[in-house]
Amino acid sequence: MSALVPVKCHVNGRVVETMVDARMTLADFLRHELGLTGTHVGCEHGVCGICNILVDGQTTRSCLMLAVQAEGHEIRTVESLSDGDKLHPIQEAFMEEHGLQCGFCTAGFMMAICDLLENNTNPSEDEIKDVLGGQVCRCTGYNTILRAVKNAAAKMGSAGA
Ligand code: FES
Ligand code: FES
Repeated sequence: MSALVPVKCHVNGRVVETMVDARMTLADFLRHELGLTGTHVGCEHGVCGICNILVDGQTTRSCLMLAVQAEGHEIRTVESLSDGDKLHPIQEAFMEEHGLQCGFCTAGFMMAICDLLENNTNPSEDEIKDVLGGQVCRCTGYNTILRAVKNAAAKMGSAGA
């Protein structure tokens, strides 16, 4: 029998306070309890990066974290990127550069790239590749994703200028 434990955290800017199964992963909590199905799950053991979210602004594999460990933290998922119908520059750049095909991996890429570009809107190609190297995409190919990151960096850099 599983134990229910309390958890209180912020998810995409709103307070979430509820009881969760002590063994539930944060990925499953976001998807199945909060309905935030933009976060996908692939390998479920920390390798593919498909389940990436931001925890206190840092890229985090949500399949490796329990929901109860979110206590007191600020969680951001891919649903936080757009502002209503207005896409985030990273989303626009993926669309413009054909940075996705099936889209299964895309939320994980976008959240890792969000972490990168929120801290540095002028990353070197090697810095971008370091981030992309932690992510698995089985169908798009990495060249267009690399172009999408550069495009997003330019958009975010000029927006902050
Ligand atoms: S599903 Fe979490 S890293 Fe692959
Ligand atoms: S877009 Fe299909 S796995 Fe990456």
